[in-house]
Amino acid sequence: MSQVTNQNPEQDPQPDPVFTLHMAAMREMQEPRDGIAPTPVSYIIMCLLFVLGGGWYLGYYGGEWTANGLSERPIAGIPPAPPPQDPMVLGKEVFGACLQCHQESGLGVAGTYPPLAGSEYVLGDKRRLVAILLKGLNGEFVVKGNTYNSQMPAWEIREDEEIAAVLTYIRNSWGNKADAVSKDLVTAVRKETAGRGEWRAATLAEFAK
Ligand code: HEC
Repeated sequence: MSQVTNQNPEQDPQPDPVFTLHMAAMREMQEPRDGIAPTPVSYIIMCLLFVLGGGWYLGYYGGEWTANGLSERPIAGIPPAPPPQDPMVLGKEVFGACLQCHQESGLGVAGTYPPLAGSEYVLGDKRRLVAILLKGLNGEFVVKGNTYNSQMPAWEIREDEEIAAVLTYIRNSWGNKADAVSKDLVTAVRKETAGRGEWRAATLAEFAK
């Protein structure tokens, strides 16, 4: 009869260390099972948080519909872009500086201040008009067939945007109708006329030839 060895666990030699390691790892893992396993609660909570967070974000920053369209709400930290200034509104404001001479009616003062309403200078060449505003005008000057001999102050300390706006305004008030003057044109004419003094009828005619 052959002898049976190692039947008594008490007498087992040390178990194989690789086997022990695998046993430990197997204990941690679930046996794969057939059928449908319930969704883990942590996963459901995570999905709920995403949905709730997204809903809150859209509600908070999404803006709302008003009679004029979608009004966007500012996103924290990013200041909202200022709405573009309507040149006719800004222009009317700037025109406050011209009122005392050219009058609210745009008709000026007979014999002293020329009219802007129907003026060939207001409705004509925009480059020349910008040049008049930037540098001012002095001496005899004929507008709509009448001669004036006074002085028009220079407005070059005003921003390009303000000058463009006031010119757009006077080109479209009191029955005047002409296209807008752009800020870029003012910038360009400002560069072109840098270092020049106030115009006289003759130098202006030369410039605008
Ligand atoms: C202190 C009075 C005075 C003020 C203020 C004044 N102007 Fe004039 N403006 C004149 C005079 C005077 C002339 C004619 C120049 C001359 O006689 O040599 C003139 C001429 C003009 C002309 C060309 C001629 C015409 O009638 O079309 C324009 C355009 C004009 N002004 C626009 C303006 C605008 C725009 C403002 C305001 C930003 C303004 N002026 C402010 C006195 C003034």
